[in-house]
Amino acid sequence: MGLATRKARLGIFVGVKGRGSNMSAIADACTAGHIPAEVAVVIGQVSGSPALEKARSMGLKTEVVSSKEAQYGPLLIKKLQEASVDLVCLAGYMRILPSEVVDEYQGRTLNIHPALLPKFGGQGMYGSHVHQAVLDAGESESGCTVHVVNNVYDEGEIVLQRTCPVLPNDTVESLSSRVLAEEHLAYPAAIELVWNRINTYQA
Ligand code: GAR
Repeated sequence: MGLATRKARLGIFVGVKGRGSNMSAIADACTAGHIPAEVAVVIGQVSGSPALEKARSMGLKTEVVSSKEAQYGPLLIKKLQEASVDLVCLAGYMRILPSEVVDEYQGRTLNIHPALLPKFGGQGMYGSHVHQAVLDAGESESGCTVHVVNNVYDEGEIVLQRTCPVLPNDTVESLSSRVLAEEHLAYPAAIELVWNRINTYQA
């Protein structure tokens, strides 16, 4: 553990189709005491989504807020505040986060992207599209990026990257699983970095 004096309370946003593997990697790192953090709430958009089901099965507190809600942004903030969240972690969340949330949690909202930003980012670059673009470009290296979220897709400050090779016979599936293994290490490490940084500035 680093400099943090208390555990960061995490609010994790999962996507409608995501498996929730980053969410569970973060939760496992918290439970094992590898990082000074705890999962306060996991927020999804659809009740039966795989990632929310996984969170429930892990005994984590979950909330559902439909992105179709007129008051989507304010409702998200309400849920985050009710759970006393310090850091917001997007994990397979494929939308632009409402600007109210970005403003309220400025510098405290992180996203993970399955490529080495600033390459292969931006609107439409998510999930398998990213890995296909990396393969099409003939890259010899890929990896993942944890970055601070602002109001532009994939453009906030880069906190941490981990790399892995792209192999000659890679498919989207083989490359994405190699990158995913790096994501599961990168996200907990980035949370610890950012939480320590916040505590250092506040000290
Ligand atoms: C992860 O690979 C993450 O990097 C990606 O979605 C997947 C979610 O998997 N996110 C993006 O592409 C965001 N632009 P998970 O549900 O198993 O964590």
